[in-house]
Amino acid sequence: TYKRQWPEGFLWGSATAAAQVEGAGHEGGKEDSIWDHFARIPGAIANGDTLEQAVDHYHRMPQDVRLMKELGLDSYRFSTSWARVRPGDRTANREGLDFYSRLVDELLEAGILPWLTLYHWDLPQALEEKGGWANRDTAYRFVEYADDVYSALGDRVRHWTTFNEPFCSSLLGYGAGVHAPGRQEPAAAIAAVHHQHLAHGLAVNALRSRGAGQLGITLNLSNSIPRDSQDPADLDAARRFDSLQNRIFLDPILRGSYPEDSLRDLAPFGLQDVIRPGDLEIISAPLDFLGVNHYHDDLISGHADAAGSDGHSGGAERPTASPWIGSEDIAFPSRGLPRTAMGWEVNPKGLRTLLVRLGEEYPSLPPLYITENGAAYEDTVSPDGAVHDDERARFILDHVAAVGEAIDQGADVRGYFVWSLLDNFEWSWGYGKRFGIVRVDYGSFERTVKDSGKAYAGLIAAAKRNIPRPAVSLPA
Ligand code: FCB
Repeated sequence: TYKRQWPEGFLWGSATAAAQVEGAGHEGGKEDSIWDHFARIPGAIANGDTLEQAVDHYHRMPQDVRLMKELGLDSYRFSTSWARVRPGDRTANREGLDFYSRLVDELLEAGILPWLTLYHWDLPQALEEKGGWANRDTAYRFVEYADDVYSALGDRVRHWTTFNEPFCSSLLGYGAGVHAPGRQEPAAAIAAVHHQHLAHGLAVNALRSRGAGQLGITLNLSNSIPRDSQDPADLDAARRFDSLQNRIFLDPILRGSYPEDSLRDLAPFGLQDVIRPGDLEIISAPLDFLGVNHYHDDLISGHADAAGSDGHSGGAERPTASPWIGSEDIAFPSRGLPRTAMGWEVNPKGLRTLLVRLGEEYPSLPPLYITENGAAYEDTVSPDGAVHDDERARFILDHVAAVGEAIDQGADVRGYFVWSLLDNFEWSWGYGKRFGIVRVDYGSFERTVKDSGKAYAGLIAAAKRNIPRPAVSLPA
């Protein structure tokens, strides 16, 4: 990995999201997002954690940008908060936009490319009260918000991502109820899928017409692996999992149609009823890149007794439902691979397979960027103050190596963003799961680069100089 020659211009970055790092939950004009509201529901978030302060990035932003520069990052993937930019979804909030404007200026001054995501799950609560993503009108509200952000930052930001992981903000939020808004309504979840697609397409067209340079979306994709490829029940469960996890997102966006099997499976939940003439044409507007978030694959069985630890529980202490709408029988057996603190399998080869497959299955696939990949582990601080997180360092290096192999096999991958720059608010898990390459002390908000951060910095330095040995010492 250290010796590899990466394609020219390959971007090395790291990612965060507004709700997870900013804090200042009700400062600078910001009002409730669905996550602020959700955090007040007893049992919704592990340990009763809230986003009110998060990791105080709102106040420590210049220092955090300095940290990125020290690590040698080319690019920083962040999101803007709709509830900060348009509190209550009324009108643009100058103070909120100014924060992002200062962030972009700091980044550019540090030589770091801003990579902006418009929707990383924090819908204004005011819109949820009008039906949220189950309401088609929310898609049109999204375009107004996107337009406000573009007016403020379009002169300096070139890379625009509409949505981060619509799977989560539709099926986990409206189906499983493990994410905000915590609804467990299968038909609303399916409507949310379609309305987010529509919002994506409308925003792509709107920003394109205003001159945006690079437009894309980020999907979380997983290889769906049947436990027994001779067993019809396992095969069918794997097909249905693949439909709900991957193809109902990829196909409308890249092919302009929903898969036929998805339409059939989801008919009882009204998918065809929310699609209006012309929608799919809007949804399949050409893109400049596809962001791929990948954490793990899924071994799938159609036999309920094959259930094992699937790592999909989400951390909530209140009852949740299944996100696999109409396919609640899907089971996730174990194949004995090592797992992270999330319970997710560690299997770098899965990333390679996924990237190669995408190119084979989608002829119109735009260039790919890994917009998230990383791992939670139970970190400890050593007496010397360091965090020797060898497992996370290994995870990152092995996955980067898998990306390199995918490129060798023909995948057009142009960048890698590690999740995450900082330990942060891990949704319904609260602060209990740490993904950062930089540790955050939740008492003092002090930042400490972990060994994984040093290893990643070394990898970037080596990639840049194309020298056989990295600049910093690495874990074995
Ligand atoms: C992804 C999210 C990101 C982070 C990682 C661990 O699903 O996009 O915000 O929580 O998982």
